[in-house]
Amino acid sequence: MTPRVAVVLGSGLGAFADTLDNPVSTSYADIPGWPRSTAIGHAGKLIVGGVAGTQVAVLAGRAHLYEGYTAQQAVFGIRYLRKLGVESVILTNAAGGVNVKFGPGQLVLIADHINLLGQNPLTGPNDDLLGPRFPDMSEAYAKPYRELARAAGREMGLELPEGVYAALPGPSYETPAEIRYLRTIGADLVGMSTVPETIAANHLGMKVLGISCVTNAAAGVLDQKLNHAEVLEVGERMKGTLIELLRRIVCKMHS
Ligand code: HPA
Repeated sequence: MTPRVAVVLGSGLGAFADTLDNPVSTSYADIPGWPRSTAIGHAGKLIVGGVAGTQVAVLAGRAHLYEGYTAQQAVFGIRYLRKLGVESVILTNAAGGVNVKFGPGQLVLIADHINLLGQNPLTGPNDDLLGPRFPDMSEAYAKPYRELARAAGREMGLELPEGVYAALPGPSYETPAEIRYLRTIGADLVGMSTVPETIAANHLGMKVLGISCVTNAAAGVLDQKLNHAEVLEVGERMKGTLIELLRRIVCKMHS
């Protein structure tokens, strides 16, 4: 049975992959054409396995622009999943809370995004076999999936608010002035991923659910510095909740 649903796991959020039944794991290095990081040799893998009888594909490890990948390279995995037959993709990420209501540990459903990466994965000649030259992005994150995710959250006693995710290339964190700017233009969350994948998935006609795990208040919100260890630590603390939420969402997507 080929998977119809895929999950892309963000920084510090890899534990979901370990909970799949009968997992079959393939290293990205063994998949022809999968871009190899020139900057960081982090081992990514594709795992296909079961969640309560439903086959799911999981991308553990994604390509970020700050590693030196182009936006086109960053979406290779999404296009590969589409070729496998995947129709729905759940993109997870670690994010900074731009909206002061979103503190560490808050899970937020991405309602929309702002692309400040300075790159678009669809730049260049369009492959009309993949999708249209000018894809619509007016519901880039499928509303029915947000409703389904909210229902899954409610079953766990979890309120899942919605927010707008702004993507910046990084790798330096934002300055407090940049965070004030992001707040002014309507962002609630900030991160360094997800947007290229969402654009490519919409181009391919796939439906997207985006979930941000807020790992820290964005720069300048609190009188403290940001560090990657904190991001990983909060991701680790949230893993049980996120695993349970993802499992419930996958089951609902299939029922
Ligand atoms: N900024 C950008 N990316 C992030 C952050 C942040 O504060 N936290 C986790 N990923």
